[in-house]
Amino acid sequence: MAGRTAIGLDVGTSVVRAVELSFGRGGITLERFGQVVLPDGAVRDGQVVDPVPVAASLRQLWSATGLSHKRVVLGVANQQVIVRKVDLPAMDPAELRRSLPFLVADILPMDVGQSVLDFFPLEEATDEEGAPILRGLLVAASRETVLANVTCVEQAGMSVQAVDLTSFAVLRALGKQTGPDVDTEALIDIGARITNIVVHRGGVPIFVRILLMGGQDVTDALAEWLDVPPTRAEALKQQIAQSGGVGSAKDLDQLLVAVTGQTQDFVDEVSGSLDYFAASNPGVRLQRILLSGGGSRLEGLRDRLAAETRLPVLAGDPMANLRIGRTGLDPAQLDFVRPLAAVPVGLALGAFG
Ligand SMILES: Nc1ncnc2c1ncn2[C@@H]1O[C@H](COP(=O)(O)OP(=O)(O)OP(=O)(O)O)[C@@H](O)[C@H]1O
Ligand SMILES: [Mg+2]
Repeated sequence: MAGRTAIGLDVGTSVVRAVELSFGRGGITLERFGQVVLPDGAVRDGQVVDPVPVAASLRQLWSATGLSHKRVVLGVANQQVIVRKVDLPAMDPAELRRSLPFLVADILPMDVGQSVLDFFPLEEATDEEGAPILRGLLVAASRETVLANVTCVEQAGMSVQAVDLTSFAVLRALGKQTGPDVDTEALIDIGARITNIVVHRGGVPIFVRILLMGGQDVTDALAEWLDVPPTRAEALKQQIAQSGGVGSAKDLDQLLVAVTGQTQDFVDEVSGSLDYFAASNPGVRLQRILLSGGGSRLEGLRDRLAAETRLPVLAGDPMANLRIGRTGLDPAQLDFVRPLAAVPVGLALGAFG
């Protein structure tokens, strides 16, 4: 493994995942990918609530994956993260960094003193009085929720080189597949509990929304509907594609009704967010949707989303622009983990600015 390398660490609700990339003259190489399943409830809505088992899973992840060091770029996404388009007075970047807390104190629904702030400039413009302004995306996360995850990672023996919003990680991993025919698209990473929606134009984010919903909602609905334990519901959900494994035709019908209803709720929520985007960005036309995340594997989801939004919906490939190193994964395993790698790949891609 030559040259500089970076590790992206995604602490998800169901799984911890790490990716190591190396940056060489010939391009960027995927050196390692690994994941370890977390015990139920240890991470809730993006936040570590039970650090001991999560730290144990992280140590297991390191020993099983053969990562070459312990410095990580850590992803955050939770209910307390706010991403909003704001106009600020034009000023140089250093001054902006210093004044950001004062400039945004009134717009944030949380205490700036308890927040981690970031600002991504998008364009220079002028306000009604003709004064120069900087329009961009403000990111604010509650310090407490970020700290809980950082502390847990440190307890496991790793050091956190940087913290980054998982939405931006998805953008870095998938936002380069646009070409002459597509420049504005929505990237949607669907996890167990968290769905990241990023609309971008040629790699520049114009809208970010974090929804607190995902594949686990479907599993929970199934477990309740069929009165079976969550692990059984999860297995049934994943078997729908190969309906042979489900049991009698009556069971299958019942299962499909439950899954279809829940999938439709999810699709309605996502398309509602895209409608909101369209209404607040008149003149910007979405051309397609790229999906990633384990939740995007749900049978029927892609077709429903395409029908609802009348847009092409495709699987995003976070490995499209990477060389594949000696990961120890065969081609079938690589294909399996492809949709799962968007967040950790994007986190590692952001390691060097
Ligand atoms: N074959 C499949 N069919 C349907 N759903 C699937 C399939 N495989 C995985 N999933 C779902 O994907 C979800 C997990 O996705 P992922 O690993 O991206 O989430 P996570 O990163 O742990 O969670 P989050 O991002 O919400 O914190 C689970 O809800 C699981 O049920
Ligand atoms: Mg995730």
